[in-house]
Amino acid sequence: MTKHNDSIAPPQDDPKVVQLGDGGIPNELPQHTTLLDRHGTIERNASLLLVFSFLVVTIGGIVEIAPLFWLENTIEDVEGVRPYSPLELTGRDIYIREGCYVCHSQMIRPMRDEVERYGHYSLAAESMYDHPFQWGSKRTGPDLARVGGRYSDEWHVDHFINPQSVVPESIMPKYDYLLRTSIDAEYIEDLLQTHAFVGVPYTDEMIDTAAADFRVQVDPFGDWDGLLERYPGAQVRNFDGQPQLTEMDALIAYLQMLGTTVDFSTFIADASR
Ligand code: HEC
Repeated sequence: MTKHNDSIAPPQDDPKVVQLGDGGIPNELPQHTTLLDRHGTIERNASLLLVFSFLVVTIGGIVEIAPLFWLENTIEDVEGVRPYSPLELTGRDIYIREGCYVCHSQMIRPMRDEVERYGHYSLAAESMYDHPFQWGSKRTGPDLARVGGRYSDEWHVDHFINPQSVVPESIMPKYDYLLRTSIDAEYIEDLLQTHAFVGVPYTDEMIDTAAADFRVQVDPFGDWDGLLERYPGAQVRNFDGQPQLTEMDALIAYLQMLGTTVDFSTFIADASR
């Protein structure tokens, strides 16, 4: 119980108490502005509110999504990024077929812990020739966007034959059969053509020479000048250490080039785009 205090005015006389007049809703904003009155109409009519919400979301969506239809504007050109060589592209197919993406992502986020662990954050341009892209968010194993050059080919072979032999606590499955599965260039032209169809700039020359480029990448004694001209920086060697060309060669060729095409000592991010 409080005692009545004469110094406090009764509510109807107190200027600090909002008065209900003309059926208006007490509101801290000035009342009877036409805009707010009209908004009140929308708030009280569920169907109208739905229609207008839909309109607002649609406009917002278009503003966000439409620019992506002109992808050339959103991906800056970065020196060094090139389409995959035929052997690397085959390795990438094996990577997808084996479901490596279920446990591995290929996108280094621009956050300190990621950059310190994996290297420079991934650039959009680095996956511009990936169809489909392999960014992912599931990391049972580490991100592989910059695994290229981190380990020797022999390490990869051992790791695929039996991951626990090099990383005892590993839960990665064995992929030893890749070492026993020979591959040839039978469908390589089709593969390049398919990627050209979805926008990868494979030229007619690249498609014509695909089978030869495919084989010469594992043959250090072959004539691989043309390969390097078409795919600058491609690594040429016998990746799995066996005489025959196997899926292991292709997969390791792919892994060893991941994240190596951009020279980050000369790269300057262009934030103005
Ligand atoms: C069941 C989940 C799983 C699958 C599927 C899987 N990995 Fe892994 N991977 C791991 C784990 C966990 C590690 C970390 C331990 C190790 O190095 O083995 C790893 C490590 C690696 C590494 C070493 C990365 C580094 O930076 O140390 C490579 C390379 C790799 N995986 C490639 C592959 C490829 C290629 C495939 C598909 C053929 C594949 N993985 C499938 C779980 C998986």
